[in-house]
Amino acid sequence: VTAPDLAGRHVVVSAGGTREPLDPVRFLGNRSSGKQGYALARTAAARGARVTLIEANTGLPDPAGVDIVRVGTAVQLREAVLKATADADAVVMAAAVADFRPADYAQGKIKKKDGQEPAPIALVRNPDILQEIGTERARPGQVIVGFAAETDDVLANGRAKLRRKGCDLLVVNEVGERKTFGAEENEAVILAADGGETPVPYGPKDALADAVWDLVVPALGSV
Ligand code: C5P
Repeated sequence: VTAPDLAGRHVVVSAGGTREPLDPVRFLGNRSSGKQGYALARTAAARGARVTLIEANTGLPDPAGVDIVRVGTAVQLREAVLKATADADAVVMAAAVADFRPADYAQGKIKKKDGQEPAPIALVRNPDILQEIGTERARPGQVIVGFAAETDDVLANGRAKLRRKGCDLLVVNEVGERKTFGAEENEAVILAADGGETPVPYGPKDALADAVWDLVVPALGSV
């Protein structure tokens, strides 16, 4: 039996990966499966929280007892996160958000033309949602958690990112082939703004999710 240490709390979790459309049939996307975010939503509900799960393109079955909001793009994800965050006690940004989106959207399918080089794809920046909610808190005492997938200098890059985004906790994992994306297991270090560093050994994504909530609970403002 899990302790209901999130009872009376509203937590928001984003999961999956955004898709940034080029035309009606194509998009720029990423390899996020959404499994870690769903594990966070499931475990929070098991610990008694009211959970808003904002999912982008996961195709995963709905977890029981969780409010689901479906989005496609980073801009839509931002709208949904800001709305749900207004009265949230904690927000965990597990979604992989595209940093850039195509500058133009073609209303009709982009065609290849004989003898012509392909046109380059111009990109524009997407809003950084985590940085926005981390640096401008919707309420005092709100706990903001980010994720970071790094390929090198994992901890140093993680520390810099934690500061830049203004979050309380940052879950850092090393990515590589067969690691993290789409897998059932994960391995990470949870960095805290107060200097804390909690390694979470290789194991199920639910165990990492519970390790995150274990650190969120004592950081929450009093009810
Ligand atoms: O900067 P980077 O993409 O590595 O940061 C990852 C963290 O920031 C994740 O928690 C992700 O959900 C969040 N993020 C965001 N908006 C973006 C890019 C990333 O909220 N545009």
